[in-house]
Amino acid sequence: MKICILLIFLGICVRRSEALGACDVIEAARIAMLDGFKGYSAENYACLANSASQYNTSFQGSPSEYGMFQISNFWCNSKSGENNPCGISCAKLMDSNISDDIQCVKRIVQDPKGLDSWDPWVNSCKGRDLIGFICKT
Ligand SMILES: *[C@@H]1O[C@H](CO)[C@@H](O)[C@H](O)[C@H]1NC(C)=O
Ligand SMILES: *[C@@H]1O[C@H](CO)[C@@H](O)[C@H](O)[C@H]1NC(C)=O
Repeated sequence: MKICILLIFLGICVRRSEALGACDVIEAARIAMLDGFKGYSAENYACLANSASQYNTSFQGSPSEYGMFQISNFWCNSKSGENNPCGISCAKLMDSNISDDIQCVKRIVQDPKGLDSWDPWVNSCKGRDLIGFICKT
């Protein structure tokens, strides 16, 4: 019995340290009510995260782009005193919690360009069959 409990704990520990993937992004997108928002299914956000950063929450492909969704510092605050549209510090887009990232994504998608704001999405996801991103759990 004790061993079972220990194993369950270990299982949880292993799971928590695992990298995030398509299902985590889809879940966060659903919670943020982005599934179907402006006609984009939740799978589009998984495809975006994959093409922008390969689901790497601490990715910084350029000095002005932050996190899993490579959000630019036009949207987040990179210095004190800024009040950019997402209203959060860019550093928060680099931690492992993507729920604030997805809120900022939602703000960006509200603009007329929608997901066209992201070149990685245009190049790798737009108009594609996103069956590989469907989350089965
Ligand atoms: C994620 O991105 C950071 C910063 O670009 C890099 O140092 C790190 O190795 C990447 N992690 C993985 C798992 O690729
Ligand atoms: C992630 O951040 C949000 C606020 O941005 C917070 O409500 C939530 O509890 C955090 N989740 C975890 C697992 O820390």
